[in-house]
Amino acid sequence: MNDAVLSPPPAGTPGGPKVLIEVFGCQMNKLDAELTVGALRRAGYDFTDRDEEAAAILMVTCSIRDQAENRVHSHLGELALRKQLEPDLAVGVLGCMASREGQALLGRWPALDFVLGTRDFPQVARVLDEVRADRTRVVAVDGDDKVSEERDITVRPHKSRAFVTVMRGCDKRCTYCVVPKTRGHEVSRPMAEILAEAQTLVADGVREITLLGQTVNAWGRGEGRSLGELLAALQDLEGLDRIRFITSHPEEMDDELIQTMASCTKAGLFLHLPPQSGSDAVLRRMARGYTADRYRQIIEQLRAAIPGVAIGADIIVGFCGETDADFEATYRLMEDVRFSQAFLFRYSPRPDTPAFSHLVDDVPDQVKRERLARLMDLQQRQSLERLQGMVGSVHEVLVEGRSLRDPEILFGRNLAFDRVVFKGDESLTDRYARVRISEATALTLRGELLSAADSPVALQV
Ligand code: SAH
Ligand code: SF4
Ligand code: F3S
Repeated sequence: MNDAVLSPPPAGTPGGPKVLIEVFGCQMNKLDAELTVGALRRAGYDFTDRDEEAAAILMVTCSIRDQAENRVHSHLGELALRKQLEPDLAVGVLGCMASREGQALLGRWPALDFVLGTRDFPQVARVLDEVRADRTRVVAVDGDDKVSEERDITVRPHKSRAFVTVMRGCDKRCTYCVVPKTRGHEVSRPMAEILAEAQTLVADGVREITLLGQTVNAWGRGEGRSLGELLAALQDLEGLDRIRFITSHPEEMDDELIQTMASCTKAGLFLHLPPQSGSDAVLRRMARGYTADRYRQIIEQLRAAIPGVAIGADIIVGFCGETDADFEATYRLMEDVRFSQAFLFRYSPRPDTPAFSHLVDDVPDQVKRERLARLMDLQQRQSLERLQGMVGSVHEVLVEGRSLRDPEILFGRNLAFDRVVFKGDESLTDRYARVRISEATALTLRGELLSAADSPVALQV
């Protein structure tokens, strides 16, 4: 079984044609997949995670790195054969690859029936009906900026946690990045709409909401609003206990947001704030709009205002023109900041980006690999030290469920978004557990259950 397949399958319309959905890429795609599932369910479709019983296979795709696209291409290649034996099987590509390549995908893959871009998925049921009835091929990749968020809130994988899109698209032009091409212009959803959706989710049992946007801390700027205002409004929403938001852009950080985070107890102790590089020359070529010193200054302000705040990073190694000295600057930034988690990537040139047309991908792959390995090693050591430093302390964990490997073990996250595992009964899922930490690895805190409750008690991490 392919790990991108939605499994177990979401609840659909019993007896309807079965659709298998594969999801690649980031949280935005996961949420778009949920919206797609809702639309298909309303239109009478059911779902499966078994290839052999699928009447339709839909892939919600990602273009961020070469590898992400290659997986989809190879799957479309495999499906060519199957489609000769099963001509009625419908195959669709949605998401970022669909937006980037559009018609060209249909040309390249005869097995493919339809292509729906990131702003076109609300049409998915109509298009799938059409394809199945008439065997026509369909491409729609020019949906409206103000794509409707008609949402069936019962379609979500977790009872206590949910994503909410607060903005779509991106108006930054980081030179390595394909997202502005695949997701289009930045549009913030209106505050009233977001709050109404949050209220409905909370009434249905959601305790933690993650606000999604490519530059989420720039939410509402065009309308004279700010993410701080939105956080404050959500802080007042009774029944909601935790608010997360990803991803923040360093150029968009300001004092108001830091102060609001500090006073907003539900915003927790975690901020994902990708630096991408620690070298000013590289940051300039990436067009990130800040220097490494400015980044350090933001971190200092955050740590002064919010004691114990954990910072998450994304970093790219081997970007065009990155010298050994540039790389060492990134290494030092990581050493200084001590991130709680870091997603580390080798630069992958993407068609339709400024760097692809104007810069040279001149760092040899071997060097990219070595640099990546050094950062991974550093992060591993720092994570281990940080988590071992927590042994003996008591944490409040929102329990996510049973561990797949050991059914007696539960897992969840503390306020700083660290993964915590402990022995306990499955009935604690979606509740709060107080856990005393007894040991730590680089990725996980392990501890003993002290008590459990339905609502959080303020606890220091
Ligand atoms: N909007 C977010 C990131 C979106 S993409 C932000 O600005 O931080 C997620 C991560 O993928 C990026 O932070 C970056 O580290 C990585 N990434 C993007 N394009 C890439 C590329 N061409 N090669 C390697 N990594 C890339
Ligand atoms: Fe890509 Fe930059 Fe926009 Fe993030 S802010 S999505 S990295 S262009
Ligand atoms: Fe996300 Fe990949 Fe698209 S990271 S925005 S799914 S290109």
